[in-house]
Amino acid sequence: MNVLVTGGAGYIGSHTCVAAFAAGHEITVYDNFSNSSPEALERVARIAGKRPRLVEGDIGDRAAVHALLASEKFDAVIHFAGFKAVGESVSKPWEYYNNNVSGTLVLLDEMRRAGLRNMIFSSSATVYGNPDPKNLPLREDAPLSALNPYGQTKLWLEEIMRAMAAADPAWHILLLRYFNPVGAHESGLMGEDPAGIPNNLMPYITQVAVGRLPMLTIFGDDYPTPDGTCIRDYIHVCDLAEGHVAALDKVASLPGCTAVNLGSGNGISVAQLVASFEKAIGRPLPRKVGPRRPGDAAACWADPSRALELLGWKTRRDCDAMCRDAWRWQSMNPNGYRKA
Ligand code: WQD
Repeated sequence: MNVLVTGGAGYIGSHTCVAAFAAGHEITVYDNFSNSSPEALERVARIAGKRPRLVEGDIGDRAAVHALLASEKFDAVIHFAGFKAVGESVSKPWEYYNNNVSGTLVLLDEMRRAGLRNMIFSSSATVYGNPDPKNLPLREDAPLSALNPYGQTKLWLEEIMRAMAAADPAWHILLLRYFNPVGAHESGLMGEDPAGIPNNLMPYITQVAVGRLPMLTIFGDDYPTPDGTCIRDYIHVCDLAEGHVAALDKVASLPGCTAVNLGSGNGISVAQLVASFEKAIGRPLPRKVGPRRPGDAAACWADPSRALELLGWKTRRDCDAMCRDAWRWQSMNPNGYRKA
């Protein structure tokens, strides 16, 4: 298929480009590099032996998106482009609503004007809010709620696309709800490269391990979980990338708008992830236990059975692989894609 990947230079987008190339797809990346690096696409080319066509621009730039969709006949869009930092969304709500929601509305309108209605959307387990433990593992029909403006944008966009598909049966939309993506391509050439101090656990761990940060703080060990630390469904970014390729293979045969969890189905605690990472690097991490982080759920993990039934996909890389691959990336690229 000829695929347009918005945000294709980002963490999940770049790994998806590698997996899509491996499956024989053609790729055009549309990215404004607001939260990614052109170097990531160089690494895609080194790994895949093929370079995606690149068009630089904003999803909200109607003229640019119109020209892009007129420039060649795409078979599907994988839409990653969007701001995704929870904390930042609280301090910059308008920017999140404008970029994520207004930008996606422009993309959806230009897609339908171009007669293109196969959409794979980067959604998130954040739409489950703070899940009730009785609903774990989470199925796609679990209650939805937004905890912050970022989560609100994902929830609104899901609702918008559900309504558009209900009004126009020509739409084929898959809403892929990612749980906790971590890890890196096994080559060590690509990985997660957050701007500033990482909010998420794994990039924070890898930056402590490589010496960019002094110490990891575990946000609370008094939760109602076996070891007192929070439980999450970590998924290797390469498994997640392969999940998008599985979605590409099926989207044309799935009319309507369907939510699909992309998770492992296994709950791993913060302490367990840290232990696995320390095993990967062969030494203890400088760490301490601090207070709980406001808004954190004690536990959240997926029931991934719909992904297997609908897409024929499930994860195949375990926690140790996530930690080994994350470390290989960070140790080979101590400053991420920025030059040393
Ligand atoms: C995981 C666990 C923390 C950092 C977030 C977003 C969600 C999605 C995935 C986009 C929690 C603990 C963390 C640290 C810690 N992103 N932790 N010390 O919060 O589950 O989900 O990323 O869609 O929208 O909310 O992931 O990695 O931030 O935290 O102890 O320095 O690690 O308390 O229990 P989270 P996370």
